Amino acid sequence: MNKIIVAIDGYSSCGKSTIAKALAKKAGYKYVDTGAMYRAVGLWLIQHAAEAMPDNQICESYLQEHIDELCISFALQPDGTQHTTLNGTDVEAQIRTLEVGNMASRVSAIGFVRRAMVAQQQAMGAEGGIVMDGRDIGTVVFPNAELKLFLTASPQIRAERRYKELIDKGETPNFEEVLADVNDRDYRDTHRAESPLRQAEDAVVVDNSYLTREEQMVEVERIFNERLNG
Ligand code: DC
Repeated sequence: MNKIIVAIDGYSSCGKSTIAKALAKKAGYKYVDTGAMYRAVGLWLIQHAAEAMPDNQICESYLQEHIDELCISFALQPDGTQHTTLNGTDVEAQIRTLEVGNMASRVSAIGFVRRAMVAQQQAMGAEGGIVMDGRDIGTVVFPNAELKLFLTASPQIRAERRYKELIDKGETPNFEEVLADVNDRDYRDTHRAESPLRQAEDAVVVDNSYLTREEQMVEVERIFNERLNG
C-alpha cells in the first residue's frame, strides 16, 4: 500500500508527540521527533560549553564549524520506544531536562542549525511511511506531505496539563508561572525570524482542548484513513 508522509505541527505541550507516536505505531510507520533533534544540538553545546558558549553566549562560528559532525538518530528499544542518540550515544534522558529545553529553544532560532536539521529530516522521510512532528514540518520540511495536521489547545488547558505533569514528577510548580511560560513559548515559536510556527494552508486543524487522548486518536485515525484512501 502507498506509504504517505504525515506532518504534525503545533504549539508546545499540546500532545503532538503522543498522537504522532500512536499514529506511527498503528500505521506501521517510522516516527521522528524533530524537537529531540534540536534538543540534541542544545545538549552538544552544553557539553562543549568552554569553546561553544563563552560567557553563556552561543559562539555561532564554532557551532557552524561543527554542526555537520553531529549525527542524530533514533534507536528502537526492545519495548518499542525510541531513544535519541547523538554520535552513537543514547542521550534520551539527558535531552529532556529544562536546561536542555531552553538551549534547544535558542539553537532552533539559528538559520544554519535549522538548515542542517531540515536536511537530515528530509533524508529520513525520503521514502515516505513516516510521521514527523515539530513546528515547521508541513511548511518547510515537507511542504508536499500528503497529510498535514495542526494540533492546538487553549493556553490555559496546555498549562493545566503541564502543571499536572510537573506535580506528577514531584516538582512544586506555580500555576501562573507555568501559564506565563506557555504563553512565552508560543510567542517565541510564532515570532522568530527563522521558520516561525504557523499553520500550513492545507493543514487539518485538530483542537484537542476538550478531547480525551482516545477521542483524539479516533479523530486522527479517521482523517489518516480518509487521506490514505483518497
Ligand atoms: O517540541 P520540543 O519542546 O521538544 O522542541 C524543543 C525546541 O525545538 C522548542 O524550542 C521548539 C524547537 N523546535 C523547532 O524549532 N522546530 C521543530 N521542528 C521542532 C522543535
